[in-house]
Amino acid sequence: MTNNLTKEQSLLLNQLAALLDGERDYLANAANLSAFLYHQLEAVNWLGFYFQQNQELVLGPFHGQPACTRLPIGQGVCGTAFADKKSLSVADVTQFSGHIYCDTASQSEVVVPFYHDTVSGVLDIDSPNLNRFSLQDSAFFEAVVSTYLDSID
Ligand code: SME
Repeated sequence: MTNNLTKEQSLLLNQLAALLDGERDYLANAANLSAFLYHQLEAVNWLGFYFQQNQELVLGPFHGQPACTRLPIGQGVCGTAFADKKSLSVADVTQFSGHIYCDTASQSEVVVPFYHDTVSGVLDIDSPNLNRFSLQDSAFFEAVVSTYLDSID
């Protein structure tokens, strides 16, 4: 099964759950999640959240270079993943029509959308390497988002 998590990924998920435990605020937990994973993962230059506000995704907590503050739903990698309600992994962002450049260092990207009573949006992870993310990595980031949603009210 290609989508089973590695030992290291399972450990990271447990550490993340422990980090978020005891706090139910969506913003506080998004901030700590971003800081934690950014520092744990290799070859990642940007990792963070955009939250839905009407027809846009608005920048939330992240780690990495300053980024675009508003992304249209239905465009770019984030807006497409959110509109299609499914994760999107792009091995080479130059090949994704409509990709929105925030940090020109980014070469590959995974976006996991989420929908919750309190807050909806996406988790976006960028790499300076081409083809950085495997199917297993996408499954891991989906599990990360589940852990995040379980942690908030
Ligand atoms: N590349 C994204 C925009 C967000 S940044 O990469 C942080 C996109 O095309 O939606």
